[in-house]
Amino acid sequence: MNLKTIILAAGKGTRMVSEKAKVLHEIAGKSMLQRVVESAKELDSKVLVVYGHDGEQVKQAHSGFNISWVEQTEQLGTGHAVKQALDLIDKNDVVLILYGDVPLIKSTTLEQMVGAVGDRSMSLLTVRLANPDGYGRIVRVNNKVTKIVEQKDASETELLLDEVNTGIMAVKGAKLIEWLGRLNNNNAQGEYYLTDIIEMAVNEGVLIKSIHPDNEFEVQGVNSKIQLNELEREYQQLKALELMGLGVTLADKARIDIRGDIILTGSDIYIDVNNVFEGRVSLGKNVHIGPNCVIQNAVISDGVVIKANSVLENCIVGKNSTIGPFARLRPGAELANDVHIGNFVEIKKTTIGAGSKVNHLSYIGDAEIGKGVNVGAGTITCNYDGVNKHKTEIKDGAFIGSGTQLVAPITVGAEATLGAGTTLSKDAPADTLTVTRAKQITLKSWKKPVKN
Ligand code: UD1
Ligand code: CA
Repeated sequence: MNLKTIILAAGKGTRMVSEKAKVLHEIAGKSMLQRVVESAKELDSKVLVVYGHDGEQVKQAHSGFNISWVEQTEQLGTGHAVKQALDLIDKNDVVLILYGDVPLIKSTTLEQMVGAVGDRSMSLLTVRLANPDGYGRIVRVNNKVTKIVEQKDASETELLLDEVNTGIMAVKGAKLIEWLGRLNNNNAQGEYYLTDIIEMAVNEGVLIKSIHPDNEFEVQGVNSKIQLNELEREYQQLKALELMGLGVTLADKARIDIRGDIILTGSDIYIDVNNVFEGRVSLGKNVHIGPNCVIQNAVISDGVVIKANSVLENCIVGKNSTIGPFARLRPGAELANDVHIGNFVEIKKTTIGAGSKVNHLSYIGDAEIGKGVNVGAGTITCNYDGVNKHKTEIKDGAFIGSGTQLVAPITVGAEATLGAGTTLSKDAPADTLTVTRAKQITLKSWKKPVKN
């Protein structure tokens, strides 16, 4: 079977009150359109997107996806929108119609939709709503779907119907081509309604199979920032429930945000309140994450403790290491096991060997630190000369006194000690004490100034 998905995304989205195209607004770190495209691609579908407003913006933001773009220059209705894509539809295709602003549709629901399409049948996703206001109503006779009436065209009795059209449908290409060719705009809104093909199908004896989503949020559309946030919270709640189902303990299921994927590689993980996860983050056994951390694309190994207010990005943390509070691991920070990174410490593009400690107020960038190294408070790698970055190497067992500046490129030998306050500009030999310090003097003749 050749599946093609047409995603309608030509609407303007005025109510978003934004310079940005509606479908570019994000749910959990991905544009709404990307979410819909990904759901369709899970079914191995070809994807066609009908765009109108802000087309260039939308195309550019999704250039990494294999999408065929179709322009609808004037928004004359959903039927007209689908029609614009017909040049790319073959008679033998199964065509699935989705909406760029209905972002949380699940691929499992779409599979059901597609599975129900035949030469004598098509599928329609419908849902019963407590408040059906604004939606097209599903009209049934003898329990069989016979047509869809739009709110603005509905009679008093039709308005009482609570089964509504989600807009999502799947149909054989040949039928779609034929029926769309017969659409007219003789209705209350003067639009070409996609929904009119349902009655045409019924008149030809094609069976309308109604499918229902597992959750209402799957078919909820976004027209405003409020609706965007409602779906964001639905999505986040789902993710939180999923994590707890897999054994993670959350301090508060409403105060965690996952904008990407968390991969669990162990059990008994604890996550305190207000944590944000982005990209791909893997968490090992017994990992403990304190409140208010932001963790992006990171590997957090077994037994790691991340204390409050730490920010980790593109980094690897080895087993039983301790990070924070208030630590920042920047891209390329790679920590071996049992490493301690303390408060107000920034680590960038640096490997740190097992058991080493950088406990207070330091900047370590472009460095290679061996095992069992102790980096004292206030140590700075002077890695940048204003033009180029240079490397600092600190070998196993070295002890860096407090307030030290390491002027890179530079090497501190194994088991070397640097005295506090050293500005190291030449390599420090192994097993020795190196110190650069102005000689201390005390002026006995000195007197405190007195007020005139
Ligand atoms: C449509 C359905 C209605 C259904 C509702 C669900 C029709 C005629 N009505 O109504 O039965 O209950 O969706 O939300 O289909 N679009 C275009 N080009 C256009 C018009 C619309 O791309 O010319 C896109 C919009 O960007 C949007 C989607 O199609 O993503 C739906 O359009 P909208 O105007 O919201 O349709 P409704 O009137 O809400
Ligand atoms: Ca709508």
